[in-house]
Amino acid sequence: MSDFIKENNYLDHAATTYVRPEVLEKMLPFFSEKFGNPSSLYDIAQESKNAIEEARETSAMILGCHPSEIYFTSGGSESNNMAIKGIFSNNTDFNVISSLIEHHAVIHPIEQLSNIGITTSFVEVDQLGLIKLDNFKKTINKSTKLVTFMYVNNEIGVIQDLKEISKIIKKYESDNNCKIIFHSDAVQAPGKLSLNVDDLGVDLLSISGHKIYAPKGVGLLYKRNGIDVEPLISGGGQENQMRSGTENVPYIVAFAEALRLSELERLENEQKMKKLSDLLISGINSRIKNYKLNSSRENCVPSIINLSFPGFDGESIILGLNFKGIYVSSGSACSSASIEPSHVLSALGLTEEESLASIRISLGRETTEDHIHEFVNSLEDVLAQLSSYKR
Ligand SMILES: Cc1ncc(COP(=O)(O)O)c(C=O)c1O
Repeated sequence: MSDFIKENNYLDHAATTYVRPEVLEKMLPFFSEKFGNPSSLYDIAQESKNAIEEARETSAMILGCHPSEIYFTSGGSESNNMAIKGIFSNNTDFNVISSLIEHHAVIHPIEQLSNIGITTSFVEVDQLGLIKLDNFKKTINKSTKLVTFMYVNNEIGVIQDLKEISKIIKKYESDNNCKIIFHSDAVQAPGKLSLNVDDLGVDLLSISGHKIYAPKGVGLLYKRNGIDVEPLISGGGQENQMRSGTENVPYIVAFAEALRLSELERLENEQKMKKLSDLLISGINSRIKNYKLNSSRENCVPSIINLSFPGFDGESIILGLNFKGIYVSSGSACSSASIEPSHVLSALGLTEEESLASIRISLGRETTEDHIHEFVNSLEDVLAQLSSYKR
C-alpha cells in the first residue's frame, strides 16, 4: 500500500486506484530485463509474447470466453470507441441505442456517429437509474445495429440487468430474423460483479485497468468471435490485426494480474463493501439532517454512494474534505473539472441545484470502518463550517 493511502482517507476508487504491490512486482521485469518486442523472433521477444498470451488466457478465463476474443487496449475509452465506431465504419444507414446515463466515453463516440448520419436513441432511466425496459423495447427497430448499455454506472453505482436486456434483444432478433450487436461498458464492474460474457449475453465488453489497481492506460475489449469490428488503429497488425502498435507488455501483464486478483477477492470484497456502505449511510442518517441518497441500496454496487446536500455546493464540500485529508469527488471524475450539473443525476430527475450539491464516495480494498467514521465526522464539520459562512 502506498504511503499516501496509509496517511490519507482516499474514498475515490471509482475515479482511479493506486497500483497494488503484487501487480507492480509482476510488471516491473518487463520494463528492464524482459524488454523484448513481442513481434521479434529471438528468446527475449518470445518471453514478452508468452507473457501477453498468458495475460490473454487469464483475462479470458475470468470473462468465460476464448483467449482469441480478448483484445488489449489503452483502457475503457479506447475499448468503447473501438466497439462503437468499429461496428459502424461501413454501415451508415443504421441505428444505435444507448442510455442517458452512459459515460462520456460512450456518449461522445455515439454523437460523432450521429454527425455522419447514423441515427441514435438514448433510452431514459427511472428514478433509480434503471433503464426503462418498456421504452427500450419500443425503441428497437429493424435498422438497429448496436445496443450499448453500461453495466455499472460510475456516478451512482446502479447495476443494469444486462441478462434481461440481452433476452429482449434475442427475442427481437428471433422475431425479426436479424442480428443486433450488444456492447457493455463494464469499466466499473470488475471485482464487484461477475463478468461472464455468456451469462450476461453480450457480444462486446469494455474493461479498464486503473479501476482495479493496475496502471492507467491499459484495458481490454472482449469481442465475440464472428462479430465484425473495424480497427481504430491500423499498422503492424498486432492484436490479431485489431489494434496495431507495439504491445505495452508491462501494462498488459499488470492488467491481467489485477483482473485475476479482483475476481479472486470478489465475493469477500462484496461483503466488506456492503458492511462499510451500511455503516456510512447509517452514520450520515444519524448525524446529518438534510441529505438525499442518489444511489438506491438495492440496485447499486455498495462501494459507490452518491449523496446530495441541498443548499450546499458539492465542490465546496469536496475541498473542505480535501483539507482534512479525505478524497471524494463530484459527479464523474473524468468531467470533474467542469461545474456543469451531472447528466446522470439530471437523467434521474434531480434538479440542477440538487445535482450541483452532490458528492460521490467510492470505497476500496483498503477502506476501513475507521475511515468511514472519520469521513462522517469530517463531513458533519465541513457542512457546519459552510453553513456558518452563509449566515
Ligand atoms: C464507466 C466508465 N467508462 C469508461 C471510462 C473511461 O475509462 P478509461 O479512463 O480507462 O479510459 C470510465 C472512467 O472513469 C468509466 O468510469
